[in-house]
Amino acid sequence: MRVLVSGDRGYIGTRLVPLFEEAGHDVVPISRSAGVDAYTGDGLDDALIGVDAVIDSTNTPVQDREEIVDFFGTITRNLLAAESKAGVGHHVLLSIVGLDHKTDAPHYMGKREQERLVSSGPIPWSIVRATQFHDFGAMTAGWTEKDGVATVAPLLVQPIAIDDVGRFLAEAATDTPLNGRVDVAGPQTQDLVDMARRTFAARGHDVRLVPTWRGPFGTDMAGEVLLPGEDARLAPTSFEDWLAAGAK
Ligand SMILES: NC(=O)c1ccc[n+]([C@@H]2O[C@H](COP(=O)([O-])OP(=O)(O)OC[C@H]3O[C@@H](n4cnc5c(N)ncnc54)[C@H](OP(=O)(O)O)[C@@H]3O)[C@@H](O)[C@H]2O)c1
Repeated sequence: MRVLVSGDRGYIGTRLVPLFEEAGHDVVPISRSAGVDAYTGDGLDDALIGVDAVIDSTNTPVQDREEIVDFFGTITRNLLAAESKAGVGHHVLLSIVGLDHKTDAPHYMGKREQERLVSSGPIPWSIVRATQFHDFGAMTAGWTEKDGVATVAPLLVQPIAIDDVGRFLAEAATDTPLNGRVDVAGPQTQDLVDMARRTFAARGHDVRLVPTWRGPFGTDMAGEVLLPGEDARLAPTSFEDWLAAGAK
């Protein structure tokens, strides 16, 4: 198969490319650093020549609500239009578990727009909704870290290893399109404050953590909102396995 990975230089994208190559597939990696801009559309038509399936793992650091909805909406419209022209048979989107809960967190609004376009678009599709990755506690605490203090929301999550997400995405891309969604998650529920604390300890990074809902994640994300559905596919790698392997 010839598979295009959008967001190849990202946290998850860097795992996807070798996974496909090891399985003998031909990979077309795209990102702005690879010379293709899915937002402006520059280079997309050429990149899609001969491609069988597209995996979209693109992301943006933008936090403004309108900008993020515009980003995810525009890259998705551009990808789908170019895929239509090139005759691509399968669009696989990496999304997030719990997206149907009506939180107004900007990233979730952008991802909802992306799912809306993919599920009503012209290309057969599969949406793989993953839970938070193992570094999520440390990553979100890092957004506010200053003078050795950081805030983190006490979210309940069931984190998953990026290698496991990569395997689920690779499986989805090589299989028949679901024209539907699947939840994928790690094996155990965790508390995000505890995850951040243990990650920083494993990395030897000294930070005092302050739990709060007054940050990017509010009380509309409390409870079981971010936990996977009953039919979720569970991956084997635990948070403890990830810590023991170096917390990277
Ligand atoms: N973190 C989590 O816990 C989690 C959980 C579930 C799902 N997800 C989803 O996973 C996805 C990937 O996240 P990630 O952490 O791997 O992202 P990331 O590390 O921020 O990587 C983003 C990738 O997108 C590329 N990109 C950005 N703008 C682009 C553009 N205009 N055209 C083409 N490529 C562009 C970047 O490369 P350039 O900058 O070179 O363009 C980079 O390769 C996101 O959609 C996120 O919603 C994340």
